[in-house]
Amino acid sequence: MKLDRSVAAVVTGGSKGLGAATALRLAAHGVRVALFDLDAQAGEALARRIGGVFCRADVTSDASIDEAFSRAREAHGQERILVNCAGIVHAHKAAARDKTSGAVRHYPMADYERVLQVNLIGTFRCIAKSSAGMLGLVRMADGERGAIVNTASIAADEGQMGQAAYAASKAGVAGMTLPIARDFASEGIRVNAVKPGFFNTPMLQTGPEHVRRALEASVPFPARIGDPDEYAHLVEFLLTNGYMNGECVRVDGAVRMGAR
Ligand SMILES: NC(=O)c1ccc[n+]([C@@H]2O[C@H](COP(=O)([O-])OP(=O)(O)OC[C@H]3O[C@@H](n4cnc5c(N)ncnc54)[C@H](O)[C@@H]3O)[C@@H](O)[C@H]2O)c1
Repeated sequence: MKLDRSVAAVVTGGSKGLGAATALRLAAHGVRVALFDLDAQAGEALARRIGGVFCRADVTSDASIDEAFSRAREAHGQERILVNCAGIVHAHKAAARDKTSGAVRHYPMADYERVLQVNLIGTFRCIAKSSAGMLGLVRMADGERGAIVNTASIAADEGQMGQAAYAASKAGVAGMTLPIARDFASEGIRVNAVKPGFFNTPMLQTGPEHVRRALEASVPFPARIGDPDEYAHLVEFLLTNGYMNGECVRVDGAVRMGAR
């Protein structure tokens, strides 16, 4: 796929962090970008900056995503690119003893389900609805109709304690990438995924400073947190290299997470 003005893209979670970095990179190539996100303030500002469109969207809601695709396609036409970045984190042990009271509390099931709804089912919802539209597109010179990139996490491989929900959701994203690529093999739509390590985004910044420092120190080389544009660079590669399909690529400075 060649990235230029003739191509439209949808980036979920595009208001901030990895999604915003991806939107910036795509727009720099002339791609017409629609940002799907809950955060209207940051999304509207970024859309103005890149000459794109912001569509308020909740990936857990069919109606909201249908409306967002309608808006995006009204503005830019049917997208050839979908990048799924919308995601949340939540940490709790499967069951744990409170340090002070000694009371035992299990993982709150509503929180567990929410993580799967946003990260896994939300990603699939956007893939299903975007690809249904892509199937109506004429193939480009290289035979492609479209390309999709999902965002898993290195937690799909080595989730830490407290990450049962998050790791399960990301392993699900990684696991469904190949079968969906196979679904579209005869239709000219490639599907890949990224497993990011630690990246400097609002999601990472919500954690305490000492945790961020410990994460940074655990990265072999380069011994630092990743820049969101380094994630976006990999997305660009996956979109533009026509032989990449059904793959899930780590970008993590060789870090391997320990138990905690
Ligand atoms: N930052 C990291 O170190 C890191 C590492 C591995 C994986 N990831 C994954 O990368 C993706 C992007 O993470 P980030 O660090 O940029 O996070 P972020 O919190 O900075 O940005 C995520 C965006 O998703 C949006 N969002 C959340 N729930 C949504 C919903 N229901 N519908 C629509 N939008 C919603 C948020 O409003 C936000 O703008 C996530 O899937 C995350 O799990 C991040």
